[in-house]
Amino acid sequence: MSKRNIDIAPSILSADFARLGEEIQAVERGGATILHVDVMDGHFVPNITIGLPVVKSLAKVTHIPIDAHLMISEPGIYAAQFVSAGAKMVSVHVETDPNLHRTLMSIKSTGGQAGVVLNPATPVSAVEEVLQFADYVLVMSVNPGFGGQQFIPQSIEKIRRLRQLILEKQLNVRIEIDGGIDKNNAGKVVEAGAEILVAGSAIFGTADPENAVKELKNSTMQWV
Ligand code: DX5
Ligand code: ZN
Repeated sequence: MSKRNIDIAPSILSADFARLGEEIQAVERGGATILHVDVMDGHFVPNITIGLPVVKSLAKVTHIPIDAHLMISEPGIYAAQFVSAGAKMVSVHVETDPNLHRTLMSIKSTGGQAGVVLNPATPVSAVEEVLQFADYVLVMSVNPGFGGQQFIPQSIEKIRRLRQLILEKQLNVRIEIDGGIDKNNAGKVVEAGAEILVAGSAIFGTADPENAVKELKNSTMQWV
């Protein structure tokens, strides 16, 4: 079996917002292959972060694809706009969208990759009917809203169950994991089936984000 490609996706939520350009350059030098941008509206999650204008500006300075993680109510109104703003990947929470199929199609028809997100309390079965329309599924390993929270260990079994479902359906859907990822648990989530690893505090919370990306990637090497 050929080796899987593991993407390290730094979450800028833990970066210094006044120095975003420099912070992004540092993680790109470290080998980051996706830039994870957390969009929060103060309704779906109890925090407010950034939106379309910031994604537009980031798209001009970054050399790696932007992954917009929408933690907002009514994502169907905004999802395609994030693609137009420059996000190559856009993900939407199952819990907040009754018309998930429509929203995923709107992302794809605008030229983006469409992701579905599961909160820790949401079962894998919640994505079953839309799995074939998604490019990736994001498993939250913390409750969304904040960086720096502790990894929920049950997420590992959840990744395994999701991987099984994807294999059974013979689909080409990647698994992303987000929340509390660091070099101590990165190998385990990769072994379980995750291929896109989001990390915020474990990268931007250190004195050397460039090196933190390298270390995180290295910690997964034996599991690919
Ligand atoms: C949480 C966000 C995450 C967050 C991860 O709601 O979706 O992307 O930035 O931060 P860490 O890696 O610190 O848990
Ligand atoms: Zn996120």
